[in-house]
Amino acid sequence: SCFTNPAVSIQINTKTGHFPHYRRKCTSCPIGGKARFQARLFISTEFKLPLSMKPAILVMHGPNLNLLGRREPEIYGRTTLADINAGLQARAEAAGFAFEAVQSNAEAVLIERAQAAMADHTAFIIINPAAYTHTSVALRDALAAAGKPFIEVHLSNVHAREPFRRHSYFSDLAQGVICGLGAHGYAAALDFAIEYLQQKQAG
Ligand code: DQA
Repeated sequence: SCFTNPAVSIQINTKTGHFPHYRRKCTSCPIGGKARFQARLFISTEFKLPLSMKPAILVMHGPNLNLLGRREPEIYGRTTLADINAGLQARAEAAGFAFEAVQSNAEAVLIERAQAAMADHTAFIIINPAAYTHTSVALRDALAAAGKPFIEVHLSNVHAREPFRRHSYFSDLAQGVICGLGAHGYAAALDFAIEYLQQKQAG
């Protein structure tokens, strides 16, 4: 920050990811003159500065998916969320994309992450909204606002279960919907996302 006026904005060299100290004329603070700037990296729970300029694939997991492996394994399988994310991350990064996975039991956290995708490097979203599939107009609206292509994934075949699971607030906005393939559904969605983004980059 500007030493004369600490409220003045941070300066970041986004090309290299370096955060140099340097001196220059302060144009933003009312006093002006020479000021010493030091770029700082802000990391908080609300805001993460993207260090990578690569297009990113964002995977979003809704409530109770943190319990995968232990939660009704006859329905959801024995693969843990950490294992699913690790496999997706390796594949996405090998294909040259940045990768981020987020899981939350709180609707607001998912909504805020989707909103952030309006302005960050997210190029494609894979989302299992879990129970919010059937309830959340608010999360649907956030994805619509983000305007990024997304695939809706469900581990179980929601059409072969209770009737209330047949309705989704997301499917009509989605690029595609995968359900009933267990953890493989995420891998299939990622394969599609990579091909989609590579075609977009080529053309
Ligand atoms: C789920 C199906 C939803 O109906 C359920 O509420 C979940 C998981 C699935 O992955 O099969 O939590 O999205």
